Amino acid sequence: MKIAMGSDHAGYALKEEIVKVVKELGHEVIDVGCDCADSVDYADYGIPAAEKVASGEADRGIIICGTGIGMSISANKVKGVRCALVHDLFSAKATREHNDSNVLAMGERIVGPGVAQEIAKIWLSTEFEGGRHERRIGKISEYETKNEG
Ligand code: RB5
Repeated sequence: MKIAMGSDHAGYALKEEIVKVVKELGHEVIDVGCDCADSVDYADYGIPAAEKVASGEADRGIIICGTGIGMSISANKVKGVRCALVHDLFSAKATREHNDSNVLAMGERIVGPGVAQEIAKIWLSTEFEGGRHERRIGKISEYETKNEG
């Protein structure tokens, strides 16, 4: 898969770690930045990463800031994006199976690199279950389309 990846300064070090894992798994990384630990604004990287997923240029996205919260809020403003903020292994699996999340957000100040790597591996390898969950995410897409400005 092609994975769009982005972070702000507070997520930069963890992004670099996760980029390595994603590549080791055989995926292609589209890194939208940032490129160092100098202070930046998370929306400037979370939104472009999410847009790559929404446009189809990337299959999925992984975005990281200090808490993952600013990144997830930003990404979820992009139509077609279902961004899940995940800091545990159970949620990593469940959000793929139930929500078909196409973007994963994590917080470098919340989770250590070992757990974050496992979260990324599980999230990348878990399939959507479909069925009743298809109907549920369909209602989110319906809302997005109905309320387009
Ligand atoms: C940066 O200090 C921090 O606010 C940001 O990385 C993120 O945690 C915001 O949600």
